[in-house]
Amino acid sequence: MNDTNVHLQDSASETGFPSGFLWGTATAAYQIEGAAREGGKGESIWDRFVHAPGTIADGSTGDIACDHYHRWSDDLDLMARLSHSAYRFSIAWSRVLPDGKGHINETGMDFYEQLVDGLLARGIVPCVTLYHWDLPQALQDRGGWENRDTASYFADFAQAVARRLGDRVSAWITHNEPHIIVYHGYVDGTKAPGLRNPALVGPISHHLLLSHGLACQALRAETPHTDIGMALNFAAIEPATDREADAEAARTLDGLWHRWFTDPLFTGAYPEDIVPLIAQPPDLIRSGDLETIAAPLDFLGVNYYTRALVRAGKGGPTDPRIVPPSGPLTTMGWEIYPEGLRATLTRLHRDYQPKYLYITENGVAFPDTLTGDGEVHDAARTRYLREHFLATRQAIAEGMPVRGFFVWSLLDNFEWSYGFGQRFGIVYTDYPTQRRIPKDSATWLARVAATNGGTVEE
Ligand code: FCB
Repeated sequence: MNDTNVHLQDSASETGFPSGFLWGTATAAYQIEGAAREGGKGESIWDRFVHAPGTIADGSTGDIACDHYHRWSDDLDLMARLSHSAYRFSIAWSRVLPDGKGHINETGMDFYEQLVDGLLARGIVPCVTLYHWDLPQALQDRGGWENRDTASYFADFAQAVARRLGDRVSAWITHNEPHIIVYHGYVDGTKAPGLRNPALVGPISHHLLLSHGLACQALRAETPHTDIGMALNFAAIEPATDREADAEAARTLDGLWHRWFTDPLFTGAYPEDIVPLIAQPPDLIRSGDLETIAAPLDFLGVNYYTRALVRAGKGGPTDPRIVPPSGPLTTMGWEIYPEGLRATLTRLHRDYQPKYLYITENGVAFPDTLTGDGEVHDAARTRYLREHFLATRQAIAEGMPVRGFFVWSLLDNFEWSYGFGQRFGIVYTDYPTQRRIPKDSATWLARVAATNGGTVEE
């Protein structure tokens, strides 16, 4: 993190979390901002996608979402009351560059500048995600991530943001979860842009990774003291049985989901065992691309929610199939499996030695309701978070360089194709009135943050 803001020490403090450990929440622009067509913002692929019939489970859109664009100041006050020391949010590319390139929309830049300044004024460290899935529609019209040029446009966008905000931002997260973009945006079509074409896995992955590398160059040039990383999603992938074929299938799935991205980032090569499974057109990888992609990072962001149990399908070990989970589930149908977080951190440290690790997302959706006393008693969420904090503390004790934890999410918000049906917030959003009601877990988390983890077991 930018050394003007945080001074991290390497020794763990008495609580088991290093002093300067960042405690906060994470959000994404499309999920909370609303104001889809205000302030000169251009259309994004999500603005387009949600208005196509049948794409969103409850027929809702993010047009208004949590109206954070208008309520940002109150939302920052809330974070301060909840003792956040950091906040991870994303910048909507089409709010800053309505056509994706060229003309900068100063009103959009102003919005993010007041957000950054507002955070700093409240003593909260700003961590900025540059791409949380909302490509400007104007670039999609030119082929989107299928088009190699989009990688350069992304670097230009990163540079424009860094020029305006870089002196005050502590960390850049170039991309959020490229694996989800690839498989849900382009294979099963459940997320924008909603395509269904498995042949695109190779090209989209490569262009996303390349765009990261090019953005790193632009960011380093503008803001040499700001840390750079990427947030990737990791499931704890385990074989469903002790059969050798299932172990191999688990390794394949780990390759498809994880190593396909982490190997190029940290070793400059796509994983050999997976290359035969993913088509890469002959002219896709150009000379110098892999060096660009593998430029050293300051941290790896870990988004962790659940485990995936795997068995070999009819096609054998290269045909991994996920076994339906049987443990305790969330309303997303995800198994609650905190040990997997520790295993994930350990494995990433062992295989790639990133300088620092941050938990850039972890949290849970439950069917929260407002009770008669006007509160939300979400003991199950507190339990979920406690167990994941303890898994992190254990990993730290074992030597993993974890430096912060961002709970997903600050507010109940627009959960992509699930609409408003999944409540991930530590703060309840009453959508008709946009009232924010901190849940019991928010109060618990505030104390944990204020004591740097000292009260995590309470
Ligand atoms: C992650 C996304 C985030 C949110 C959570 C629940 O995959 O990055 O925006 O949807 O899942």
